[in-house]
Amino acid sequence: MLDVGAGYGVVSEEVLQAFGSSDHSTGLFRADARPRRHALPVVPKLRYVLCNLVDPSWPKQVGGPFDLAVSAIAIHNLRDPEKIFACYHAIHDLLNPAATS
Ligand SMILES: C[S@@+](CC[C@H](N)C(=O)[O-])C[C@H]1O[C@@H](n2cnc3c(N)ncnc32)[C@H](O)[C@@H]1O
Repeated sequence: MLDVGAGYGVVSEEVLQAFGSSDHSTGLFRADARPRRHALPVVPKLRYVLCNLVDPSWPKQVGGPFDLAVSAIAIHNLRDPEKIFACYHAIHDLLNPAATS
């Protein structure tokens, strides 16, 4: 799972609580521009990636592919419609094709 603009990780915490954090949910990547020392490590393979969502290299920094991507009140901060579109496009390309069908 990828949480874009994760902040302290509230959204990914909720998703993992709703759907369970065992078995498959072993990879959680939180992409954000600022370090979050108090983010809760809910799964063993949690990885926090510091990156700027307007930097074209951010998708490579987080890796993937992901089975799920979540984001809340973050992408609008990019302001420029072209940058927002590019961010959604990058998220789409980070998803596992088998998970999107
Ligand atoms: C309002 S917070 C929302 C955090 C979290 N998604 C939540 O719902 O609690 C917006 C987040 O987007 C991140 N953010 C804003 N612009 C960003 C950028 N250009 N690159 C990466 N993260 C960014 C901020 O650092 C912040 O953590």
